[in-house]
Amino acid sequence: MQQQLTNRRVLLGVTGGIAAYKSAELVRRLKELGAEVRVMMTPAATEFVSPLTFQALSGNPVHSQLLDPQAEAGMGHIELARWADLILVAPASADSIARLAHGRADDLFTAVCLASDAVRAMAPAMNRLMWANPATRDNVALLADRGWAVWGPGEGDQACGEIGPGRMLEPLDIAARAAQLFETGLLAGQRLLITAGPTREALDPVRFLSNHSSGKMGFALAREAASAGARVTLISGPVHLPTPDRVTRIDVVSAAEMRDAVLDHVRDCDVFIATAAVVDYRPAQAAAHKIKKHQETLSLELVRNPDILAEVAALAEAPFSVGFAAETDDVAHYAKVKLNAKNLNMIAANRVGGVDSAFDGDDNALQVFWPGGDASISRSSKHSVARQLLELIAQRLRDRD
Ligand code: CTP
Repeated sequence: MQQQLTNRRVLLGVTGGIAAYKSAELVRRLKELGAEVRVMMTPAATEFVSPLTFQALSGNPVHSQLLDPQAEAGMGHIELARWADLILVAPASADSIARLAHGRADDLFTAVCLASDAVRAMAPAMNRLMWANPATRDNVALLADRGWAVWGPGEGDQACGEIGPGRMLEPLDIAARAAQLFETGLLAGQRLLITAGPTREALDPVRFLSNHSSGKMGFALAREAASAGARVTLISGPVHLPTPDRVTRIDVVSAAEMRDAVLDHVRDCDVFIATAAVVDYRPAQAAAHKIKKHQETLSLELVRNPDILAEVAALAEAPFSVGFAAETDDVAHYAKVKLNAKNLNMIAANRVGGVDSAFDGDDNALQVFWPGGDASISRSSKHSVARQLLELIAQRLRDRD
């Protein structure tokens, strides 16, 4: 199943109606599509279904009180309103529709709806005469006018024994409509593992060998991949960058730690992108105590670090593996040699040194190679370059399937 709601945050508003029991299944359907789900309930809704049911299914505490100091200390109503990408009211009772239409804010549910600029949708459910009443018709029309998507209601047997329009749509149908509200991400549901930044190889307790890698390219890729619908794990050496939204970050220091972290996670990934500037050699032995300047000259014995990317690409069930190559000259030639030598699915090469240097700047340009093809990404921000590289990766993944 394509997880079209990966990284999307759905705030499900459950209001008072017998159809509330179906919303428990709706939570499961939304989660199956990859959504993160939180539930808010009106007091009337809690008379139909226990908040505990929704807590267990969503994996998150249920929100129901506006002025509960404990709840407000956790995730208050304004934070909840900001958190949501989609507010989905299901079932939407006649009363809750009326209260939303009039901009009420005297309970948690209405206050959150009023305070949010998220995408909003409702699945009405009520007795057929309540639905047909001009008061309800006007309220629904007003909300639709203000941008609410109105799904259903369906027709059929009603809990009250009557037959007609007023049944809440089936959870599967509502979840599918929720997914359609969002543009399906380029990498929807794909799992990406990305290394970024430099590594540090200890000489003694206070000194290390390292390089100037800023981590910007890897972090830009992580952010853009998450926006394109991927689940992203970012394994980063020491850098001064904030963690992109919706990205799981693991901090490491040395190449050995980076390798361990990668091998711990690589089985759960579809795509591995190695942007890290892994230090190629480490001191054969890190001194236990600070090295003193007793001698005129000092020799260090260095040993090769493991090549993380080559190791991943050589796995029996290797993910789609993408390397980066920094070259001062003959970029295409050396990049292709590395593509073959490490058995990669793709390599992105950038020129370093001179005016075009990419190491610490905010811009980059790439020449990208894969077996049987290549493309150029012209100089622009690392975020724009990241988006274009992810498009190439998505294309290659599609061609492979
Ligand atoms: N890489 C890695 N582990 C290492 C070294 C490199 O995963 N120990 C990855 C980098 O993240 C990058 C690619 O391999 O994706 C770079 O390959 P490499 O051959 O190390 O490139 P250079 O350092 O440019 O190599 P050379 O010095 O041989 O030109």
